[in-house]
Amino acid sequence: MLGPVILAASRSDKMRRIVSAAPVTKPVVDRFIPGETVDQVIPIVTGLADRGLEVTLDVVGEDITTPEQAAAARDAYLELIGRLEPLGLGTRAEMSVKLSMFGQALPGGHELALANVRPVVEAAAAIGTTVTLDAEDHTTLDSMFAIHEELRKDFPQTGCVIQAYLFRTEEDARRLAADGSRVRLVKGAYKEPASVAHQDKAEIDLAYVRVLKTLMAGSGYPMIGSHDPRLIAVTQELARRHGRKLDEYEFQMLYGIRSEEHVRLAAEGHRMRVYTAYGTDWYGYFMRRLAEKPANLLFFVRSMITK
Ligand code: FDA
Repeated sequence: MLGPVILAASRSDKMRRIVSAAPVTKPVVDRFIPGETVDQVIPIVTGLADRGLEVTLDVVGEDITTPEQAAAARDAYLELIGRLEPLGLGTRAEMSVKLSMFGQALPGGHELALANVRPVVEAAAAIGTTVTLDAEDHTTLDSMFAIHEELRKDFPQTGCVIQAYLFRTEEDARRLAADGSRVRLVKGAYKEPASVAHQDKAEIDLAYVRVLKTLMAGSGYPMIGSHDPRLIAVTQELARRHGRKLDEYEFQMLYGIRSEEHVRLAAEGHRMRVYTAYGTDWYGYFMRRLAEKPANLLFFVRSMITK
């Protein structure tokens, strides 16, 4: 029951100030967000690549309030892409972006987010890599899918994320699987009402499997974003059933979570991509990680008490 409370706190400015200022927060944050600057994250990417892993990079930030912040988000990604190229990391690292960070929730936000994300997609394509549009709360998704469709006209490799907990996702998956998209399937990390999303963990898992079957049977490139061992096993079985080769789908996991499993799957010949977030505006991302596993919160609270 702690999860929904933490997710509510992830949208509270007061909690943001308290959690961000607590001296014990940083070491716990570092487990999930291994740097605040490009200089700090580049060695992490290199280290992951050396272990046979691929990376998707997320400059943390969301829910910005001015067009200037949206432009700064775009520039942060452009700087990152510029730094990857000379290191030859372009083929190893793709970008994950949240459209709310590109201005989607501001007045005229749909057009603003599209205008800000397009140069990032262009720059990524120029160094031989791609961008995936993360899925945020359900109110943002029609706009996200429309932007995804628009970008794919020029950059067909642009990916998007679908969330198994939403009722709408089975239909979204059928559409995306048929038109050959790169699609990351995740369980879903936001606080959603019962009118739009499954609330029960077991129901979410069943929905995940149904959507996974659609993606694996389709003509797209499925990206399995989960740490759940049962879902990894189901994916491997479906890949066999549909004759998908190892380079016709990939696994994705978050930096700092089940790291030994990243290496194990890569050693088996799977394509394994590690979602690596960095930056200073880490509060929302960090709180979602706490909500996913209450033990993380207990660890965090215990370290606050014992300091
Ligand atoms: P589940 O939560 O059942 O976890 C399975 C096991 O993994 C747990 O038993 C535990 O061992 C481990 N684990 C999971 N989360 C952990 C944590 N925080 N700390 C420690 N251990 C943990 N969501 C979204 O709404 N939009 C998005 O765009 C994305 N993008 C995204 C990219 C990638 C690559 C991943 C892996 C996930 C996302 N997510 C996301 C998050 C996703 O929706 C979901 O909240 C988490 O992946 C947790 O769900 P699992 O499938 O891992 O299963």
